[in-house]
Amino acid sequence: MSAISSASPSALRSPDSQRRAALEVLLSRQSVSALQEPAPDDSDLALILEAGLRAPDHGRLRPWRFVLIRGAARAAFAEVLVDALRNREPDPPEALLERQRLKLQSVPLLIAIGAKIEPDGHIPKIEQLLSVGASAMNMLNAIHALGYGGIWVTGANVYDRRVNQALGLSWPDRLAGFLFVGTPQGAPRPVRRPALSEHLSEWTGIKEVARERD
Ligand SMILES: Cc1cc2nc3c(=O)[nH]c(=O)nc-3n(C[C@H](O)[C@H](O)[C@H](O)COP(=O)(O)O)c2cc1C
Repeated sequence: MSAISSASPSALRSPDSQRRAALEVLLSRQSVSALQEPAPDDSDLALILEAGLRAPDHGRLRPWRFVLIRGAARAAFAEVLVDALRNREPDPPEALLERQRLKLQSVPLLIAIGAKIEPDGHIPKIEQLLSVGASAMNMLNAIHALGYGGIWVTGANVYDRRVNQALGLSWPDRLAGFLFVGTPQGAPRPVRRPALSEHLSEWTGIKEVARERD
């Protein structure tokens, strides 16, 4: 057997192809809302959460607060959402409340993403929130890299004081959303990504800006 054919596939990979494979993970990620069991096991979940802790963070404020909601706690949390909805809207249709309960039951794992905001320091609040957003993105990428599916959702519940308080967040701390996490129910649907040209320009000098203003 030649040296090449006996080498393990990872040994055959050059550092460059490993870097490209990592990038391929980023480029192939897409949100998955149709989820089924299993949720990530404990060791995969630890990796996902650790990825969240690698977000950039101005001032080392470490504003990330993650709250796991899974198993039987999902039904209890659904009741928190139902109470919050009843408080926001008098007499919501029972079908809507039931949909809420069923939805939560169908999600293998929820990660509530909280922002612990330092209101008085010199780091603007927006930067603290951006760091929390970056932690969510890192976790979505880790979820995808490990073969699971996830989606970041918000909606009125995220901005509801009762829901925030149930998760231990009191203003100015706040929820930034939930990651719904599990195993994709099927193959990913084809998704059209925007053209780079619509999102990119190059600033080449102060004179051009002045000309545009004229
Ligand atoms: C802050 C934030 C909140 C979002 N809230 C919702 C939501 O409540 N419901 C939803 O279906 N998608 C929501 N999305 C969009 C999805 O997370 C996802 O980005 C979108 O479906 C596009 O999929 P993609 O990630 O494959 O591009 C939100 C995204 C962000 C960044």
